[in-house]
Amino acid sequence: MGLGEAQFEVILDHYRNPRNYGELGDASVKVKDSNPLCGDVVEVYLKINSDGVVEKASFRGHGCAISQASTSMLIEAIQGKKLDEIKALTKQHIFDMLGIEVGPVRVKCALLPLKAVKTAAYTYLGAKMEAEELEE
Ligand code: FES
Repeated sequence: MGLGEAQFEVILDHYRNPRNYGELGDASVKVKDSNPLCGDVVEVYLKINSDGVVEKASFRGHGCAISQASTSMLIEAIQGKKLDEIKALTKQHIFDMLGIEVGPVRVKCALLPLKAVKTAAYTYLGAKMEAEELEE
């Protein structure tokens, strides 16, 4: 089995057995996003502590193998990460994480969770800032 094939197996396994799947009851923030081209959906849940660290992340969704596997892999990768690290995530991080050549048609699929996770981080920070301003 070549390297690419082995990595493809990893991706398929995430698709078939998604990690951290399901709603997080005590999430600090949840964000739903979809790919308008196909209607595939991911919803991400982040529980963030007072130090700005993701204590727990989970997701739900439906769609193609790449979008769902990419979400499962990204959600696993951000457990215990700081919001600053999530804000700094780039497309390249996702491509490196997937470890296979993603063709132009599949780029939107692969990046769906990146948008959802970053939106969740910014939504959380925005709400926190607003709450702090109200306290002053
Ligand atoms: Fe819909 Fe991949 S075909 S996200």
